[in-house]
Amino acid sequence: MEKAKNRGVFFVKKKKKAHVCKGGGLLPPKLNRLQHIALKVRDLDASLQFYVDVLGFSVIENIDQTDPAKTTYGYTRRVRFISCTNEHHVINLTEIGPEFVPPNLPPPENSRVRTEYGLHHFAFIVDGKAEFDEWVEYLKSKGVEFVRGPLLHSPTHPEGDGSPGENRAVYFCDPDGNAIEICCDIMHLDEYGEVDREWHADRIRRDGYNPDEVPLPPINR
Ligand SMILES: [Fe+2]
Repeated sequence: MEKAKNRGVFFVKKKKKAHVCKGGGLLPPKLNRLQHIALKVRDLDASLQFYVDVLGFSVIENIDQTDPAKTTYGYTRRVRFISCTNEHHVINLTEIGPEFVPPNLPPPENSRVRTEYGLHHFAFIVDGKAEFDEWVEYLKSKGVEFVRGPLLHSPTHPEGDGSPGENRAVYFCDPDGNAIEICCDIMHLDEYGEVDREWHADRIRRDGYNPDEVPLPPINR
C-alpha cells in the first residue's frame, strides 16, 4: 500500500471502507469500468449499417425526436441505443440533423490522427488470441480497412512491437472516422498496481512461450 501511495497512485486494497485521505479530503469512491460511449453521428443509417450489420450490435431502443424546438440540444435528434452485452446500451448513437451538417462534407479523417480535441479511439475486448484472430479475419472478410495493426503492444513479449499495454490490438474506423480498437489480453495489475505476475506467466504460456524467458514488462511512471 505504501509503495502505491508513494507513487501518488491509490490502488486501495479491498475492504478498505473510508474514502478519506490523511489530510481529511475525500478520495473518489470506486468506479467499476467504462460502460458506454455516446457518439454524435452525421448519418444514422450508415452508422447502424456499420455497428449492427458489421460489428453485430443489437438496437435496443429508438428515440426519434425530429422537431428541433423540442430537443434538448437544439439539433434534430434521432437516437439509437445499441448494445453488444446484456446491458441496455454500450453505445448511444445520436444523429446530428442534416441542417447542421455542411453539404459535401469530405470524408472524416481517422480520429487517431486528426488534430482536433476529443476522441482518439475506444476499444472492445475479446476473450483471447483465438477470438482476436477470428475478429481480424472476419473484419477482413467484410472489407473493413485497418488503420493500425493487428499488432501486440509489448516491450518484452517475443511478438511485441515495443509499445506498452501487453494487449493485441487492431484498429479501424466507423463511418464518422471514430477509431475503434478490438483487443485481448490487456495487462492485469496486482493490488499495488504492478504487473500481475501470475497473469503474465499464464498469458506468455498461452501464447506458446516460456514465462521464465520473457521478462515482466516495465510500467512507465
Ligand atoms: Fe487502445
